[in-house]
Amino acid sequence: MSDDLARARELLSGAARVLVFTGAGASAESGVPTFRGPGGLWRSFRADQLATPQAFARDPRVVWEWYGWRRWIVAGCRPNLAHVALGRWMLAREGITLVTQNVDDLHERGALEAAAALGVSAARAAPIRLHGSLFHVRCTACAERAEHRDPIDAAGEATLPHCQSCASLLRPDVVWFGEPLPEDALRSAFAAAREAAVCLVVGTSGAVHPAAAVVHQTLGAGGSVIVVDPGETAYDDMATARLWGAAGDVVPRLLDAGPGGGRGD
Ligand code: OAD
Repeated sequence: MSDDLARARELLSGAARVLVFTGAGASAESGVPTFRGPGGLWRSFRADQLATPQAFARDPRVVWEWYGWRRWIVAGCRPNLAHVALGRWMLAREGITLVTQNVDDLHERGALEAAAALGVSAARAAPIRLHGSLFHVRCTACAERAEHRDPIDAAGEATLPHCQSCASLLRPDVVWFGEPLPEDALRSAFAAAREAAVCLVVGTSGAVHPAAAVVHQTLGAGGSVIVVDPGETAYDDMATARLWGAAGDVVPRLLDAGPGGGRGD
């Protein structure tokens, strides 16, 4: 680990641009379930019954109930040391783009904590979201999109969130299986990944495309990959530095090191 940690720090300190790519593992220590590992959501729930447009068309009440439950879990969680360290790093350095597959808001809240401590605005640390947001909705009929944080009452279809413009049913503004990713977000993420000298991957299995291909954009343009994850990922063979461990432990050790190596490891 310590060889890889030193190599990773060196790669990051020499990079003019860095792309940080995160997945569910970045939020695991905050108490948000991942999808595929032990305790992962897809071990207990069926994606085809909860996270597809067909499932929503068949039974919006059940789908909303599930997203309401996930919202409730995240609302009760706090950003962990990895979210805060990433926020602090992005606010202190130029040239870092954060791309996340996560639908929670913990990167934003981690950056807000870091910004408050530094007395600066958190705007620069805003992530590009590839899979949408648990706390946003969009209309099933018109172009309306909005932030929406209220608890979900899924007692019946009438109590579900409805559009203020056209009164149609609202849906979670997340990407479901079989749906395209938001075009602008994907284009910006791929462009930033190609410009990056290093892609720092934190807590994703790399199982879901096209999001997973962000990493290949950096590699294809001649950049390097650093992987932080306690389990195996699709990127292990491509990593120049492989840091086996939990994000909340490894990310601060990687990013908070002062000039000349900082904390001993
Ligand atoms: P996965 O559940 O597939 O992978 C989570 C990764 O986090 C695994 O590699 C774990 O080893 C790792 N992990 C677990 N605990 C960790 C910790 N404390 N620190 C760091 N890493 C840890 O989740 P994603 O890769 O995010 O998409 O899944 C990708 C997409 O699949 C999600 O965005 C979601 C899902 O279906 C949609 O819903 C469209």
